[in-house]
Amino acid sequence: MKLIVLLLSLSTLVNAQNLLKDAIAFRLGASVNPRLLSENEAYRGIASNEFTSITAENHMKMMLVHPAADRFDFSKGDEIVAFASATGKRIHGHTLVWHNQVPQWMKDFKGDQKAWEDLLKHHIQTVVGHYRGKVAGWDVVNESFLDDGSLRSSLWADHIPDYIAKSLLWAHEADPNATLFYNDYGQDGHPKKMQAILNLVADLKSRQIPIHGIGLQMHINVDSKRTQIEEVITKSAQTGLAVHFSEVDVAVNPKNNPEFVYDEKASAAQMELYKFLFKSFQSIPMKQQYGITFWNISDKDSWLRGYFKRPKEYPLLFDENYAKKPAYTELTKSLNKLY
Ligand code: G3I
Repeated sequence: MKLIVLLLSLSTLVNAQNLLKDAIAFRLGASVNPRLLSENEAYRGIASNEFTSITAENHMKMMLVHPAADRFDFSKGDEIVAFASATGKRIHGHTLVWHNQVPQWMKDFKGDQKAWEDLLKHHIQTVVGHYRGKVAGWDVVNESFLDDGSLRSSLWADHIPDYIAKSLLWAHEADPNATLFYNDYGQDGHPKKMQAILNLVADLKSRQIPIHGIGLQMHINVDSKRTQIEEVITKSAQTGLAVHFSEVDVAVNPKNNPEFVYDEKASAAQMELYKFLFKSFQSIPMKQQYGITFWNISDKDSWLRGYFKRPKEYPLLFDENYAKKPAYTELTKSLNKLY
């Protein structure tokens, strides 16, 4: 009897070690789409078993939650939250203030600075208030800087001076326990953008504005330079803030070659970059490791295919049939060796 129990627990242990989430000591996340969660069993199964953190890919953004000045629609965001809560996951909120996916009524809005501030404060505080106690952390402000480090012109930058600091203060008022992030992409390869983010963080800290984390989206590709990625991680960690690889994918066909074949060579190069990314994340002091989040689940669901009309792209760790790719297995094995 004892032997059977021992064998059973050993097999549980071995199986558990086959899961990527069990090979690491930080949260593993994915962004999800509520339609796929409800309609696609394989998708839901993976979202449920493989991850410990969930982000809404689109359904907490302005355009979707705030379709009219006097109307919020939390229905889809709530579905994601219900799924994540029922399966015991952390929920990461994405995103409160962005230049993109803004509803038409906001684009048409006319008013003085005070009116714009009231609009944005109301938006932030209603969304954060709605999810207070459920969402652990927020990408409060997303993609404010251009690659040259200058502030991007947007509805927010153009109408509200110091809108990043104000947004953080408003979010903090609405949920003092939430971890607040500044989130952006392409810091590797764009040192001026990285520096602008570091300057922002230093300035916010010096003014006691609540900023708790840096989101590095990590939409990278097989040609991304490791030295540049490493530098971005080191510099982000040196701020002492939490670090989140918040939207990870590793593109294998960044130039959208229609003849591209995802062969062993491409798959191996991608696997090596994934290993590098995870190991580099482990170099961040543990208390700053907020987690790694993939931008959706299978290659088929990736924004890179739809958004860029790039059908021959295979950026994630699950294939079109929701099977684990070799990169998943190899990555998990290589990480297990560290523990
Ligand atoms: O929901 C509508 C649907 O009703 C309509 O028929 C269809 C026709 O195009 O569009 C659907 O909306 C699409 C939406 O995703 C939901 O799937 C939009 O066209 C499409 O533009 C939108 O793309 C999203 C993109 O942000 C918008 O910029 C991607 O899914 C999403 O992955 C992407 O995520 C961003 C992060 O939030 C921030 N960082 C970059 C990242 C990638 O762009």
